[in-house]
Amino acid sequence: MQRIAIFASGTGSNARKIVEHFKGHPSIEVNLVVSNKATAPVLDMAAAHGIPTLVLKRSSFYETEELLAQLRGIDLIVLAGFLWLIPDYLVRHFPRKIVNIHPALLPKYGGKGMYGKYVHQAVKAAGEAESGITIHYVNEHYDEGRVIFQESCSLEPEDDAEAIAQKVLALEHRHFAPVIEQLLTINYRS
Ligand code: GAR
Repeated sequence: MQRIAIFASGTGSNARKIVEHFKGHPSIEVNLVVSNKATAPVLDMAAAHGIPTLVLKRSSFYETEELLAQLRGIDLIVLAGFLWLIPDYLVRHFPRKIVNIHPALLPKYGGKGMYGKYVHQAVKAAGEAESGITIHYVNEHYDEGRVIFQESCSLEPEDDAEAIAQKVLALEHRHFAPVIEQLLTINYRS
């Protein structure tokens, strides 16, 4: 079995799609859901599927490497709306084994503070004719690791930030789990 840990800070709609996608999969399972928020709905979703959960404390996440013990046996860390910067020790320990989804076409609209609705508001303010999603490897900097997959959607002049968010989220839900599956079956199997 290849084991996935999902890190998510919020609603967890992408996490849910991923959990559902791999339910009953012959060789891939979601083994752990990690959040930095004890009240995040994503934790209830995981518990409802019988998936172990873990709530991070900022101090131990950044000042210790305790988390590594809990990630033993994990083959891929998936950031699905996880907003904390990944510390160096985790990047070093999981080379090319941490992926993130970003709700825009990187390198545009990435970096610190660019997440969720702030991304869509910036896209709207710039009058872009398209937006989209980027799935990329994670390094020590926000949104800078190598791009694995991008898909775009066209925007209409009347689309506000909320409408853009809906279009982008639909792309995320369609593509994230299949891209993860491809990564785990093509790249990692020897
Ligand atoms: C997703 O749109 C994801 O791309 C974004 O947070 C949302 C989480 O939604 N991530 C970032 O902005 C990271 N910079 P969800 O909790 O419903 O999956």
